[in-house]
Amino acid sequence: MTVFRNARIVDAAGERLGDVLVEGGLVVSVAEGGFPALPGSGGMLEIIDAAGRVLMPSFVDLHAHFRDPGFPEKETIETGLAAAVRGGYTAVNLMANTNPPCSDMKTIRYVREKAERTGLATVHQCATITEGMKGEGCGHISGLSGVRFLSDDGRGVADALALYRGMLAARDAGMVVIEHAESSEFSKIDMRLAEDSMTARDIELCAATGCPLHIAHVSTKGSAALVALGKSRGLLLTCEATPHHLALTDSTSYRVNPPLRTAEDIEALVAAIESGTIDCISTDHAPHTAGDKADGAPGISGIETAFAICYTVLVRSGRIGLPRLSELMSLGPARIWGLNRGLVKPGFEAELVLVDTGIESRVDPGDFASKGKNTPFAGMGFFGRIDLTMHGGRIVYDSKKEKP
Ligand code: DOR
Repeated sequence: MTVFRNARIVDAAGERLGDVLVEGGLVVSVAEGGFPALPGSGGMLEIIDAAGRVLMPSFVDLHAHFRDPGFPEKETIETGLAAAVRGGYTAVNLMANTNPPCSDMKTIRYVREKAERTGLATVHQCATITEGMKGEGCGHISGLSGVRFLSDDGRGVADALALYRGMLAARDAGMVVIEHAESSEFSKIDMRLAEDSMTARDIELCAATGCPLHIAHVSTKGSAALVALGKSRGLLLTCEATPHHLALTDSTSYRVNPPLRTAEDIEALVAAIESGTIDCISTDHAPHTAGDKADGAPGISGIETAFAICYTVLVRSGRIGLPRLSELMSLGPARIWGLNRGLVKPGFEAELVLVDTGIESRVDPGDFASKGKNTPFAGMGFFGRIDLTMHGGRIVYDSKKEKP
């Protein structure tokens, strides 16, 4: 049994001051204004003084790369999950561009078992849309079990007919397709057209197949408008934005895919967050070695900095309230995933994070638990320090117990 006392409790439903009691992996009661007396528990009650701090549902990341199997020099399941809980995440959906790619149950089970052994967070391993991520063939989909998401993230599925067939198979199996909407023909000459044209095509395939479609890392004004239009047609369509596409313009020269865009694009993404077009924020955590980064590998090691960046850029700036950020980082992605998470409410899982929003911390990649130290945010200050992360009612990260 654990009780958080005098917390500012924030979730997608709003905020209130009070105590939260956790038992058996669930939130069992929330007392606005606090419990008149602490529940007795035969000395087994852990009391956490949360005064002055925010207690929120822990975060759900629909998009991360842990590189395992295949690239242990970049990240492993263990280091990725250690980074996740430091960032306040206790549910992570892993992309399938591993080596071998996750196209079969043997590889998927390898990830599941490793993740399970850490006990740190809930992990879902995506399977590829096309077999071996080769861009065609989706016969492997019928052999998958317990898979919720399919994705060839890292690249888009260039062949429209291959994606159409993959989406029909995914729909029949009750899966969601996550598309990296980028047409490789245009990437070399026009990265904006590459995203916008493939987003338009993918939305038409969503309409034609009836397969639920989630567009990864929406980064342009044009693709945000296409998603808004698709949603107005009643399609089974969701999308995400990343912290780095919300925080940085192309005046920062840092290679990430899709690329950093203009101030006008950021304004359109924030407006899409305000209007509800964007369902969630995902990290696209993409760790690389210093050598690979120097050789041009795209990506940001972002799972440890995501909340502070979003809190600072979206909430402290006054664009959205903290409950909306909670919805974007917890309830929204939990709904897409199908998890009973995202609210601090009796009956919901005790997946919680305690945050100090008054503390500004400088990003020091040397301090990351991730093996990827690749970040354009090094040295920058952000508010919103993660103090404690709880998964299944157990504390899986406590900043006080870690090295300073
Ligand atoms: O920046 C990126 N890095 N974008 C992607 O889509 C793939 C990712 C990676 O795997 O490194």
